[in-house]
Amino acid sequence: MYFERFFDKGLAQASYLIGCQQTGEALVVDPLRDVDRYLDAAQREGLRITHVTETHIHADFLSGARQLAAGSGAQLLISDEGGEDWLPRYDHTPLHDGDRIQLGRVSIETLHTPGHTPEHVSFVVTDTAAGNEPVMVLTGDFLFVGDVGRPDLLENAAGVAGSAETSARRLFSSTRRIRRLPEFVQVWPGHGAGSACGKALGALPSTTVGYELRFNWALREESEERFVRSVLSGQPEVPDYFGRMKLTNRDGVPAFDVEARAVKLDALSKSVGSEAQIVDTRSVESFSRGHSAGALNIPDDGSFVTWAGWLLDPNRPVVLVARRERVEELRLALGRVGVDEVRGYVEDPGDLASVSGPMETIPLVSAMEYARSRDDHPGTLIDVRSTDEYAAGHIPGARHIHLGDLRDAARNFGPDQALTVYCESGGRSGIAASLLRGLGMNNVTNLSGGFAAYRCLDGAEVERSEERVPG
Ligand SMILES: [Fe+2]
Repeated sequence: MYFERFFDKGLAQASYLIGCQQTGEALVVDPLRDVDRYLDAAQREGLRITHVTETHIHADFLSGARQLAAGSGAQLLISDEGGEDWLPRYDHTPLHDGDRIQLGRVSIETLHTPGHTPEHVSFVVTDTAAGNEPVMVLTGDFLFVGDVGRPDLLENAAGVAGSAETSARRLFSSTRRIRRLPEFVQVWPGHGAGSACGKALGALPSTTVGYELRFNWALREESEERFVRSVLSGQPEVPDYFGRMKLTNRDGVPAFDVEARAVKLDALSKSVGSEAQIVDTRSVESFSRGHSAGALNIPDDGSFVTWAGWLLDPNRPVVLVARRERVEELRLALGRVGVDEVRGYVEDPGDLASVSGPMETIPLVSAMEYARSRDDHPGTLIDVRSTDEYAAGHIPGARHIHLGDLRDAARNFGPDQALTVYCESGGRSGIAASLLRGLGMNNVTNLSGGFAAYRCLDGAEVERSEERVPG
């Protein structure tokens, strides 16, 4: 049996290639849209991709399953267990609980494990060349290392009112099902630490049923009521692009142009166009010193894809400010969240001056300077962190507006209102400050170092709030 895991750091997402070396047949589970990586790997290993499947209708990225099946001639197997509303609206071979996928000597059983989503399935893999007991289970977003997938996305991302509790109860039943597998069975989940599909995901790439039975709170919990309460509390904010991803994934994701390359725009380029969104991927510090008017600063780091999905308009083209060697990776990351049109890139934001006018700056203020001068500059202080972070401790008087909600909230600000934004360490507030500037606020300051720096000041006052969600 051949087995390979592909891990995308930006999404903290894992996809898998499983094959039978004797017959050369192979299956890909949960592919991303840049499908050439699976085709290349299969070719390298002398395998043919004969089957493509996914564990569930994803909310955090656009699936590459349809495109990969079309490109490889593979059978596309998708769960039909989700009920009328969550049946795939494109051609596929339906998968049901108990169905087997045979790849030569490798036998894969479908296990319906609803809860994170209604149609969710896991895949129990047996390598019959080695033995008759399963060797591993691919659990998608049902079971992670140390946690289970959140059951509230259907309600909070897809707007199915009242579904969070029903889904949590289904998830509890699914945990009872997985407990019946032998302890030695390896568990390969669909996400690692950093994903918003759960709240306490472990960093290890895999685990075993036995280890999870001992250490995963969700498998250990015997009371359904306690399970439901625990799993629904303390979940991170739901990125609002999750709803859009789910519907596109259900209805059929358009093909992504894997071969396309972003072009470098020259200084006098007119191709930027007024409808383009300028996404400046440099550090907060570089951006603050000088950037094109209207540019959104989303630094090229581990959170790029999440904030791009959350804050960009998928129907408008993007112009990147980025280093040449990073452009292709960034284009793929944007494609993962459905922002498909990258019109081009510049390495130096000055190259955009002919279309976007003179460069702008955003003042950075240290925690110490801010604490010293606050009385002289009352203004509005905005904490853009999560609800939990804000509740656990914030600068007195700060208003909580999560970064994902800032665009809507900004409608209530005047263009000359003094606004100071902060987060934990200055990263998210950099994005926030650029967003506010781009929306026409002229008096925005970013508290560099964020709450972490503020908290370390001698005599720093910290306010806690009741709105904390118990974790
Ligand atoms: Fe998911």
